[in-house]
Amino acid sequence: MKIELNTIKQKLKSVINQENFTPLHAPIFEGNEIKYVTDCIESNFVSSVGEYVTKLEEMLQEYTGAKYAVVTVNGTAALHVSLILCDVKREDEVLIPALTFIATANAVSYIGATPNFVDVEENTLGIDAKKLDNYLSEICDMVDGYCFNKHSGKRVKAIVPMHTFGHPVDMDALNTVAKKYNIAVIEDAAESLGSFYKGKHTGNHSKLSAISFNGNKIITTGGGGAILTNDEALAKKAKHITTTAKIPHKWEFNHDMIGYNYRMPALNAALGVAQLEQMDKFIENKRALALRYIEIFRDIKGVKVFEEPEYAESNYWLNALILDRGYENMRDELLQVTNDAGIMTRPIWTLMSKLKMFKECPKMDLSISESLEKRVINIPSGAWL
Ligand SMILES: Cc1ncc(COP(=O)(O)O)c(C=O)c1O
Repeated sequence: MKIELNTIKQKLKSVINQENFTPLHAPIFEGNEIKYVTDCIESNFVSSVGEYVTKLEEMLQEYTGAKYAVVTVNGTAALHVSLILCDVKREDEVLIPALTFIATANAVSYIGATPNFVDVEENTLGIDAKKLDNYLSEICDMVDGYCFNKHSGKRVKAIVPMHTFGHPVDMDALNTVAKKYNIAVIEDAAESLGSFYKGKHTGNHSKLSAISFNGNKIITTGGGGAILTNDEALAKKAKHITTTAKIPHKWEFNHDMIGYNYRMPALNAALGVAQLEQMDKFIENKRALALRYIEIFRDIKGVKVFEEPEYAESNYWLNALILDRGYENMRDELLQVTNDAGIMTRPIWTLMSKLKMFKECPKMDLSISESLEKRVINIPSGAWL
């Protein structure tokens, strides 16, 4: 089946309204960025110690409603440490969506644990809790209250729902299944700063969560991330592990475990403080942009713009055009036509289960992810548009 490629290009152009090449996303530095970064340099505390680190953590706590925030060198590190804090070990399996960015799978692999890939729902782009329940009831045995994959013999210890493009997963449904099988939940909230599930900020619906402040995210620290938690003991451990597990002392170097140098430098935190101050404006602009896309594509045959699930208020980090089933064959042409016209568009990620490192990993039926992989295209989503 065919879609009107030129109509789609024109509609995108009319919303974007730019003469020049339009990227998918780009940071905006219109606040106190230069002031705070300069101030940080002048203070001489640019690295592991500095008041901007504490300031950014406090601001994140206030913005997200999480009791504790620990900033890190990037979002992948935040995920890695969150998995360690859930006691994930080499011999364990971790359930993750097949439809995600590579970092989710990498973090599991850094521990040596095995990803077990699960499917998503078309209307949320997040893990399908019902399908997950069926899968676990089929492949798992509960032994002494713990969930074991009866095929691999490995314990299924954690699950990492990912809020795709900022759209919240149905966390209540997912948490019910996780509880039934005694599986720890860690939200990959890398893309969802500013997104709320049933009125509560994402990252607050599980034991621990990870946020990213990479240059392409809604706010950036250059590179950076954060762990959110509402558990004081976990927050303390997160700080400890991400700061080389050094026992605080004025002059002595003692470390009580293998730690990581995953702390966010103060220079990056200074940038983050200035960025977070502008969050409300960024969200307002991105939600308005999404609405314009949704409206203009409402009556176009063969495509629709992804809309936030009814339980959510999303940051619309990246907007997505989804081709209807039957129009998969038009994806590459659409990518070609739009990129040729200076409108950056990109297909969604290749499924993790297809990558050579993960081909042998266990997985459930991934039919929805497989279908979405062929039909989802991201379109320019910068807050300046
Ligand atoms: C879903 C997801 N998880 C994890 C990450 C990792 O974050 P970072 O690039 O800060 O390591 C990203 C973003 O890059 C992401 O999109």
